[in-house]
Amino acid sequence: MKRIIITGATSGIGMAVAKQAAKDHKLLLLGRNVEVLEKLKTELVGEHKVMACDVTDVAQCNAAIAEAKSGFGGVDVLINNAGLGYFDPLVSGNLDQWHHMVDVNIKGVLNMFHGCLPHLLETKGHVVNIGSVASHHVFPDSGVYAATKHALFAISESIRVELMGKVRVTTISPGAVNTDFINKTTNEELHGKMKDYFATAMNPDSVALQIMNAITAPADSVVNEIILRPFR
Ligand SMILES: NC(=O)c1ccc[n+]([C@@H]2O[C@H](COP(=O)([O-])OP(=O)(O)OC[C@H]3O[C@@H](n4cnc5c(N)ncnc54)[C@H](OP(=O)(O)O)[C@@H]3O)[C@@H](O)[C@H]2O)c1
Repeated sequence: MKRIIITGATSGIGMAVAKQAAKDHKLLLLGRNVEVLEKLKTELVGEHKVMACDVTDVAQCNAAIAEAKSGFGGVDVLINNAGLGYFDPLVSGNLDQWHHMVDVNIKGVLNMFHGCLPHLLETKGHVVNIGSVASHHVFPDSGVYAATKHALFAISESIRVELMGKVRVTTISPGAVNTDFINKTTNEELHGKMKDYFATAMNPDSVALQIMNAITAPADSVVNEIILRPFR
């Protein structure tokens, strides 16, 4: 039984992990929409906690981490799942959206990692960062998203090389997954072009299964990265 914090548990991959992990683990489910989290909690087997947490807000991150520490007695796994992407060519890029991706996908990950690190060192815990194939490849119309996911991968690698033997780290790098992700894109032409592709891409349960495999790997090994692509 592990004590697991999941960010962005209100939707998609985060919610799918919550459903798969609930039976065997203790979960603190975080998100911006507490009503959705409360409803999710009623559907899960086991005793879990939910709390409002916008990962861009350091005080909310620290309050959530303190809740895990006081309520569960510690943190074994942090799943940095909250994230988003706005697809747009650079020439029509919206600076507010660029900043927002940096705030959630990079600073949000750092906020949670910074707050959890002392507790993860106590438990020889595990950080699971949700990257993307865009952690390794740059595609047209998603350059800033790719920049944030490259940064996330660098954070994971930094944990791996600095905290080897002290904290485990896994990056899960999926290709397209059928979640609400694509609907954040406000460029109507790109959204129109891509939404059908995402609708027939991987199920979030397939990504969640790999996350479960990583956090339950034998203690003498660590899964540092899983790249998962749609098979079609
Ligand atoms: N879907 C894909 O094709 C795909 C592929 C590769 C990687 N990913 C990555 O997978 C992760 C999960 O995405 P998803 O596909 O499951 O998309 P999703 O269904 O849109 O879920 C994203 C989650 O992140 C949360 N979130 C966004 N901004 C937040 C903030 N400031 N504070 C706290 N939570 C916030 C969302 O909550 P709200 O509802 O409150 O916004 C939601 O719970 C992301 O990191 C994404 O980059 C997705």
